[in-house]
Amino acid sequence: MILRAGSSANLRLACALASFGSVSLARHNGMSDFLAELDALTADAQQAFAAAQTPDAWEAARVEFLGAKSGRLKDVQKGLGSVPKEEKPAAGKRFNEVKQLIQEASETAKARIDAAQASQKSEPVFDPTLPGRPLRVGRLHPITQTIEELKDIMGRLGFSVADGPEIEDERHNFEALNIPLDHPARDPLENFYLSAAAAATGRKDAPMLLRSQTSTVQIRVMECTPPPVRIIALGRVYRPDEVDRTHYPMFHQMEGLLVDRHVTMADLKSVLRLFASSYLGRDVHIRFRPSFFPFTEPSVECDYYWNNKWTEFGGAGMVDPNVLQAVGYDPEEVTGFAFGLGIERLCMRRHHITDIREFYRNDVRFLHQF
Ligand code: PHE
Repeated sequence: MILRAGSSANLRLACALASFGSVSLARHNGMSDFLAELDALTADAQQAFAAAQTPDAWEAARVEFLGAKSGRLKDVQKGLGSVPKEEKPAAGKRFNEVKQLIQEASETAKARIDAAQASQKSEPVFDPTLPGRPLRVGRLHPITQTIEELKDIMGRLGFSVADGPEIEDERHNFEALNIPLDHPARDPLENFYLSAAAAATGRKDAPMLLRSQTSTVQIRVMECTPPPVRIIALGRVYRPDEVDRTHYPMFHQMEGLLVDRHVTMADLKSVLRLFASSYLGRDVHIRFRPSFFPFTEPSVECDYYWNNKWTEFGGAGMVDPNVLQAVGYDPEEVTGFAFGLGIERLCMRRHHITDIREFYRNDVRFLHQF
């Protein structure tokens, strides 16, 4: 087609062509640029929100993309103006879709960051590389440990373990042990008599008491076992003593009893010496002092040497014939020795403990050392 200026028809045609040309140009540039910009913006925004890990990073992304004044979405929106009229609805629709997508990316990121923050507050992050917290393991009480060790030592010397009740009658605590009614050891002020326990037996004339010595078990064993016997009995005994560094109203004893033919004082000495050197150490010094107990004849006190002085840790002796008779043994046939040692005192000497009260204060700082 030849255009000739001056012709009005041609001019109209030229204008139409020109306008057609400009339309096709705008369609090419305005719309596709706009769409390309929207796509780039969507990708950028989605990436930025996905990368945000903190509330600050999220806020920065929000301002950058959705900011009301100078956000990039706002900027791109301005490009809508260069989109030809007939393409505007499609461009607007796409713009709204993109706006929706970016808002969704923003909300998803916000929810993710909020949730992470909340879980961080309630539960510290688990770090498997940190050293573990040490567990506090419980221990046996030092007296229980001592009892186990004493059983072990005496077991090797051929003694088996016997047991008896802590609430006793007078026959086992006194009478059969040759302690007569008028003996000062039976004084109510020297013992824990139990009126309730006596009432429970239904016999007012048969008082009961917390045993004051483990010698009760000697009687209980011999009553039902024919000789020979070779036993130890370990357990609590009770006496209304005034409390001080070496006295406590409840403490533990280890009773020993050996009855057989031809048992002598030399056997007693050997066993106690062996026992002392096994438990307290080879270098321990012990000594026997003449003493008196109603149920042994002769009787001795045993002392060990500690802190430049001799300390008593128990009594011993040859079983009195009256005791053997009381349980139906024949003193002409058998003889025996017996001993009763204070377990706290042995444990104190072993561990250099100077106050018996420490055992029963229940202070874990003390108990944890054993
Ligand atoms: N039962 C005596 C006491 O408690 C100790 C002992 C036991 C003495 C056996 C001699 C024989 O003191």
